[in-house]
Amino acid sequence: MDKKIILTGDRPTGCLHLGHYVGSLKRRVELQNSGKYDEIYIMIADAQALTDNMENPEKVRQNIVEVALDYLACGLDPEKSTMFIQSQIPELCEMSFYYMNLVTVARLKRNPTVKTEIQMRNFEERIPVGFFTYPISQAADITAFKANIVPVGEDQAPMIEQTREIVHRFNHVYGETLVEPDIMLPDNQYCMRLLGLDGKAKMSKSLGNCIYLSDTAEDVKKKVMSMFTDPDHLRVEDPGKTEGNPVFIYLEAFSNDEHFSKYLPEYKNLEELKAHYERGGLGDVKVKKFLNNVLEETLKPIRERRTEFSKDIPSVYKMLEKGSIVARKKAQQTLSEMKNAMKINYFDDRSLIDEQIKRFQ
Ligand code: TRP
Repeated sequence: MDKKIILTGDRPTGCLHLGHYVGSLKRRVELQNSGKYDEIYIMIADAQALTDNMENPEKVRQNIVEVALDYLACGLDPEKSTMFIQSQIPELCEMSFYYMNLVTVARLKRNPTVKTEIQMRNFEERIPVGFFTYPISQAADITAFKANIVPVGEDQAPMIEQTREIVHRFNHVYGETLVEPDIMLPDNQYCMRLLGLDGKAKMSKSLGNCIYLSDTAEDVKKKVMSMFTDPDHLRVEDPGKTEGNPVFIYLEAFSNDEHFSKYLPEYKNLEELKAHYERGGLGDVKVKKFLNNVLEETLKPIRERRTEFSKDIPSVYKMLEKGSIVARKKAQQTLSEMKNAMKINYFDDRSLIDEQIKRFQ
């Protein structure tokens, strides 16, 4: 049986938020604790973060430790998952360099996620080459570890597709070497992409519509109480819409029947609450207070663990350093297999030189 190897990661451009939690962190911890995977790599993608933050290296540097704290707080365990820093694995650059020959500019231009990101950042023609080609470097991230499972949000699907194409081409040209990865999407449809507090399509640092895992209980409450709801639901007695209403979408993602018996026993479940809201007679404040209680069930233990880990930052760095050493060994092994397949490891494989010597005899 083939090994089951997971790789995933995050750009350290800010603290991680609830969108990251439902979209990936929660799942990662479950996968880690299932014991079903042979190797798990969690990468802090600082080099990728620099592709559109090159003038802001301090931001990236500071957020490496914030993201590491978020990981530990959520329950990622260095005994079970190798957490590491992308820039500490130079082999990834070398791999990317060879992969660049296997991808056309036209193909990169078609990547829908990169397309949207270019628009969001108003890059137009001034797009950094490194940013434009980050899907290729992401293929290196994945293939270096022979990962066959990549748990990510749907916005990352084009990167996995691109990786599969690169693997396919590489193996076709140079012989079976690399492993084709499969994407593993979040299982709850509401968790695929958590919308922002303002109802915008995505929780995103740049839109300022996030609840961070590092937010205090007071911050969270303030943010929940000022969330967007149905703009036509003006008076309590008005009928309200639950569809497209961020408060209800969050409840779909986070609440369960136990939350109702604990915090809002006059309703059995979300269906009953929704029906009342739609009929009219249920105010936003009551629903928001309930949502705040529900979110705290998730956030409180994370917040407490984060505070604990942040008391010993040197240990967090030690953990990342160890992880990076382990990750680098694996990447070196894969790179050496790639060079073997490409027959460019001239000084390790004497036969490559002997072949040339023969030509001159
Ligand atoms: N692009 C991912 C993000 O935006 C981060 C990332 C970099 C990644 N390399 C990866 C994710 C490899 C999965 C696999 O968050």
